[in-house]
Amino acid sequence: MTTPSSPTIVAALTDIVGARACLSGADTEAFTIDYRRLYLGKAAAVVLPASTDELSRVMAWCYAHDVPVVPQGGNTSLMGGSVPDDSGTAVVVSLKRMNQVIEVDAINDTLTVQAGVTLSAARSAAEAAGRLFPLRIGSEGSCQIGGNLSTNAGGTAVLRYGNMRDLVLGVEAVLPDGRVYSGLRALRKDNTGYDLKQLFVGSEGTLGIITAAVLKLMPLPRSSSVAFLAVASPAAAVALLGEAKRTAGQAVTAFELVSRPALDLVLDYLGGEKSPLAESHDWMVLIELTSGTDADSLDQTMLQLLEAGLEAGLVLDAAVAASGTDALAFWRIREEISDAQTRTGGSIKCDVSVPLSRIARFIEEATAAVHALEPRTRMVVYGHMGDGNVHFNPLRPADTSAADYMGACYTQVSHAVDALAHAAGGSISAEHGIGVAKRDDLKLYKSPVELELMWQVKKALDPKNLLNPAKVLPVAR
Ligand code: MLT
Ligand code: ZN
Repeated sequence: MTTPSSPTIVAALTDIVGARACLSGADTEAFTIDYRRLYLGKAAAVVLPASTDELSRVMAWCYAHDVPVVPQGGNTSLMGGSVPDDSGTAVVVSLKRMNQVIEVDAINDTLTVQAGVTLSAARSAAEAAGRLFPLRIGSEGSCQIGGNLSTNAGGTAVLRYGNMRDLVLGVEAVLPDGRVYSGLRALRKDNTGYDLKQLFVGSEGTLGIITAAVLKLMPLPRSSSVAFLAVASPAAAVALLGEAKRTAGQAVTAFELVSRPALDLVLDYLGGEKSPLAESHDWMVLIELTSGTDADSLDQTMLQLLEAGLEAGLVLDAAVAASGTDALAFWRIREEISDAQTRTGGSIKCDVSVPLSRIARFIEEATAAVHALEPRTRMVVYGHMGDGNVHFNPLRPADTSAADYMGACYTQVSHAVDALAHAAGGSISAEHGIGVAKRDDLKLYKSPVELELMWQVKKALDPKNLLNPAKVLPVAR
């Protein structure tokens, strides 16, 4: 069958969703480039369905006419998974009009939302009912629950609450042929066979398009303590995390590592903002403790932890947030590191995880490997140390252009870092997913059995390979 022309596609889909919800030509441009402006594609049309039923009819038409479909949430992902290729044959499905909060059930501690609800709107709906939806990522104002689920988003509170896979109870999704998988259950116990909803979580829109979800709610924190501190080394940070777990138990909510080049870069990006610490150090940590009761004096617990850390030589200096404003300022420094790199350009993103017991050694070895390739590389290393996940992002030397650095170093550096993570029992993508950026690297790190099973699942749900094609699964098997 020959693929229909763009005008034919637009006419057919306009019949389903209406003219204002079917875009073509220049109106599609915002949907065909990714957040970091690294992946630029073309679309035959962009459709914005208003309901699961409309989306189901869109999918059935595209399936019958062999038209590829690329699902898109807030388009904030980092691996190029949410934009089409440059063939101009695909239809982009944006979920942004499906943005209703369906139900907050404060007794069941669940929140049911459509996929296009932004993360911040979901958090606000929970908060209005005195509950917490705990996923926390920098892009919360734009990213959407459907995208958070399909990429199994992580962020800065995984240590306490888990990632998106742990926060979902039910999913509704439209399959490539238009059938609807209705798994919108609000149950914490449901042992009735395969856990099909989890197929749609983390599969980056390659198996179905998530249209709604039931999410878990938690008690809203009523007390917290945030500190920004200098540690002697990554190994000292790991030891301090162990001490924090012993001292504060469940209250340890976030434990984020920041290297000196990462801090220098973000302070400059924030217009000369000052570090919370008086002196410059090689390694810093941001710790957050929270509790659902206000009986706990978490500042006291934090001070106890810091004193123990100072005595043991793990902590070199520390600043404890004296107010909510201070805490926000500490978090801003951490969260803006990502955008600071995007603005600077020439950052080789390696989102790796290794068992905590091996992370300090991994950082040491990977730093040595990168410096052996380009000794002037700035080691922007930061992220979710508490989860064993570091964003190990070698950055171009200040006097080398992004194009020159990426051209000379990208492949060798990313392979060296990924290979060391893999050798340490780790993953080459802890939380950012695979998209197109890491797709072919999977061949190096997944076993033939794993790859074969992934393809068999893909073929079972999407036999024509029309849904988000050429994403996640390596092309040549
Ligand atoms: C973060 O932790 O800041 C995010 O994963 C984004 C990033 O690293 O670029
Ligand atoms: Zn992260």
